[in-house]
Amino acid sequence: MRIDIITVLPELLESPLNHSMMKRAQSKGLLEVHVHNLRKWAVNEYGQVDDYQYGGGAGMVMMCQPLVNAIEELSEQRNYDDVIYLTPDGQTFDQKIANYLSLMGNLLIICGHYKGIDERIREHFVTKEISIGDYVLSGGELGAAVLVDAIGRLIPGVLNDETSALFDSFQDNLLAPPVYTRPADFRGWKVPDILLSGDPKKVDEWRTEQSVKRTRERRPGMLQNEE
Ligand code: ADE
Repeated sequence: MRIDIITVLPELLESPLNHSMMKRAQSKGLLEVHVHNLRKWAVNEYGQVDDYQYGGGAGMVMMCQPLVNAIEELSEQRNYDDVIYLTPDGQTFDQKIANYLSLMGNLLIICGHYKGIDERIREHFVTKEISIGDYVLSGGELGAAVLVDAIGRLIPGVLNDETSALFDSFQDNLLAPPVYTRPADFRGWKVPDILLSGDPKKVDEWRTEQSVKRTRERRPGMLQNEE
């Protein structure tokens, strides 16, 4: 899978995309992430990519021309399955969208900044608008990092134990069960006996029970959605 990201702040994406799981996905050749500085397509030698908004008001708007030049140049090299714009008024990102996007071959992500991008880009180029939650960030970069991480780890072969993504919270509309490691007794706080029983069937049943209990207590809406 290949993901291209257009941004005015490539530095913000360097660290999250080049460590841990994302680094592994890329070094295994399972994921390619290319970050493009929008200023490469700036309208003048000052690197201008934004301008005042029509109608007045504080805050700059990212201009059509640099974005169109960037999108068209990148699109000449490959067909994108989706052109994603990160914005607080987009569809709220969740595991279902992550699953769907992880099946794509090429994605183009546009990070907004300032007041956002000119509406005409959204109308004519963007195919999916995604928000990572009901709060406003100063730009789309952190959202893009969240998307790439959530999508990237679902690509087969990225996680060591391929099945482990299947048991993540949300994969079955359930939160993940509690987990424990050694020692079995820490300050008198004991690991549930069943996990020490060595009976995989019982352990599985216990985990499912705990998942359902946790989901009912913390996110009852998730259980209702299933019905
Ligand atoms: N840009 C600014 N806020 C955002 C959010 N909540 N999600 C995605 N992109 C954003």
